[in-house]
Amino acid sequence: MKARTTIFLACFITAGSCLADESMQVHIEEGKGVIKAFFGDLKGELVKGMKTQGPVATIGTCNTVAPNLAEAHSQMSGWQVARTSLKARNSNNKPDAWEMAVLNEFETRKAAGEDPMKLLKAEVVEEDGRQVFRMMKAIPTAEVCTKCHGAELAEPVSAKLDELYPEDQARGYKVGDLRGAFTLKKPL
Ligand code: HEC
Repeated sequence: MKARTTIFLACFITAGSCLADESMQVHIEEGKGVIKAFFGDLKGELVKGMKTQGPVATIGTCNTVAPNLAEAHSQMSGWQVARTSLKARNSNNKPDAWEMAVLNEFETRKAAGEDPMKLLKAEVVEEDGRQVFRMMKAIPTAEVCTKCHGAELAEPVSAKLDELYPEDQARGYKVGDLRGAFTLKKPL
């Protein structure tokens, strides 16, 4: 009888954790969709700007368009959507404690050989007494990014960045470095 109870309990616990995993997976897939849409729009604006206007004018676009797109995608999806980094350009993008820990974790996982394109973290955390689903996905640095985030910037580019972001920290990146991450959350 005692053994039976133990087995029953063990099954119950396993089934419970399966269900939890499943619903985590649903949130993760939904979050990935939100990131894909946001990233698609951002990249579209970036590529168009770089092709037609060059980096200096595109800095102006990033300055206004990036926060507007984050806001638009947050409203569309019902998630809170943003980007963050250990070395932020816009101080509004500075990480909170949870994000800082995840960004550091991403660096460690990358150093241990994980594919930077696939670095993802999802967790249910408690904030002000509420359960909140949080998720981050790493953003690696590509060649085009180094025009505005690299170590050697063209003179007019760094002048424009100095003007708009006197506290800019987002320079000195090489291709493949983690530039930052998308960060999402929604109350459960
Ligand atoms: C034309 C210049 C330019 C290029 C090219 C560029 N960025 Fe940025 N990036 C900016 C500016 C300006 C901001 C600040 C936007 C804001 O005010 O929210 C920024 C902000 C960011 C942020 C948000 C965190 C922070 O530092 O404030 C991330 C992440 C980021 N860029 C990643 C990238 C990646 C990845 C690429 C390449 C695919 C890239 N950027 C290419 C100019 C650029």
